[in-house]
Amino acid sequence: MADSTQRFDFVIAANRLPVDRVVDADGNVEWHRSPGGLVTAMESVMSERDGVWVGWAGEAGEAPAPFDEGGMRLHPVPLSEEEVAGYYEGFSNDTLWPIYHDVIVPAQFHRKWWQLYREVNERFAQALADVAAEGATVWVHDYQLQLVPALLRQLRSDVRIGWFDHIPFPPVELFGQLPWRAAILEGLLGADFLGFQRPGDAENFLRACRRHLGMTVKGDVVHVGKTTGGHDVRAASVPISVDFSSMDELARRPEVRRRAKEIRASLGDPSVLLLGIDRLDYTKGIRHRLKAYEELLRDGHLDGSDTTFVQIATPSRERIDAYIDLREHVESAVGRINGEYSDIGSPAMEYLHQSHPREELAALYLAADIMLVTPLRDGMNLVAKEYVSCRHDNGGALVLSEFTGAAEELKEAYLVNPHDTVGLKRTIMDAIGASPAERSRRMKALRRRVRRNDVQHWAASFLEQLEAAPGRPARHTRP
Ligand code: ADP
Ligand code: G6P
Repeated sequence: MADSTQRFDFVIAANRLPVDRVVDADGNVEWHRSPGGLVTAMESVMSERDGVWVGWAGEAGEAPAPFDEGGMRLHPVPLSEEEVAGYYEGFSNDTLWPIYHDVIVPAQFHRKWWQLYREVNERFAQALADVAAEGATVWVHDYQLQLVPALLRQLRSDVRIGWFDHIPFPPVELFGQLPWRAAILEGLLGADFLGFQRPGDAENFLRACRRHLGMTVKGDVVHVGKTTGGHDVRAASVPISVDFSSMDELARRPEVRRRAKEIRASLGDPSVLLLGIDRLDYTKGIRHRLKAYEELLRDGHLDGSDTTFVQIATPSRERIDAYIDLREHVESAVGRINGEYSDIGSPAMEYLHQSHPREELAALYLAADIMLVTPLRDGMNLVAKEYVSCRHDNGGALVLSEFTGAAEELKEAYLVNPHDTVGLKRTIMDAIGASPAERSRRMKALRRRVRRNDVQHWAASFLEQLEAAPGRPARHTRP
């Protein structure tokens, strides 16, 4: 067991630890990699730094004692059954998640969920105050922990606090629907520096401070009045990325290349292999891409016996109604498409509702002719950048929704509006029909961008801006 009195100069907090505790039917404890882009990115960042990761271990009940895993110190925070339902599934993922993603499904508002959200944020702030060394850098992540910056500042005025928003920050009109909008903004303004995916997200936040708190905003700095702490907070975009070199290296391994060939062979060596890899989330536009694919088959533009669409969907938030509905819809569409258009040994669709090791994902990326990334709204979308990182052969084509953060950088992708079914179908066909030279020209340009702006560059840039933030706390001695 790890020394629980140890203090750290670098502390990160995220709702989830990078591993989930899973107890099997025989009572054996296993640790599984947690889902999502936040974990992918921060695992790479933490592997090169000394520090502690404070977060939830993924099951309700008592928290395990702090432990070391993959060269990281992990400090679990407990959540009760009621808190998992109210703070995590409820307020975080059934109130904030829809509001921050253009209300693709309606947001639910419950005062009890808000109370639990506050209580869990208080627990995280206390855990951070306990593990941070004098003058430490504390980096808080994402929408689940928006009250933590101000709560931590009250407990520890000596630490530097940064917060990064992995998802979009909504326009004022949507954010303004939240009955607790002022408290959320005040929570965030406890930080010294706030990072967002796109410039538009930072602008939305700054506008919300002006509109809902009446604060003075000059450029990208909010001046927090004396009554609420009297310091300046900068908000700017710092787009997240992937570990380009490790994905590139993984995809070059002989066993991964072999596996890519094997995947194609096992699908009957189709002429065209399309791929989607997502958490099973309504923000990802999986229904929209299935509709476009089904119409392309129906209209005879694609031949189901010679085309396969592989959709890998990681199970996600499985007790929330909107996710249950999505799964039913997707699974019925997959069944219909296969029933109608497959041949024995040549499936029109392959659908896996499972998580896979990184090696298998790299092989899939390498095997796919067309990568379909069609979210209706997405903070960044790391899958798009992983695909590009794996294509050392400069092959393949990326079809990418305009409504992802990634589209701001990856201009050489085949950009689409997923709501425009005609446009989506046309773009998929353009990508399929592009010459090898055209695909290679685009892929080379995409790879240059992701190589230059990789996840280490992102972390260094965030931490530099946090260090240079105007609202540096006075260096007090810890009580
Ligand atoms: P989000 O954070 O919303 O899930 P991202 O595209 O930004 O979306 O990040 C998803 C991350 O999860 C990527 O690193 C991707 O490789 C990983 N991932 C997605 N699907 C799977 C899967 N089936 N098995 C393992 N990892 C997955
Ligand atoms: C997105 C969010 C993360 C979250 C992940 C997985 O990446 O930005 O904060 O951890 O999805 O979702 P989950 O609800 O399983 O943690």
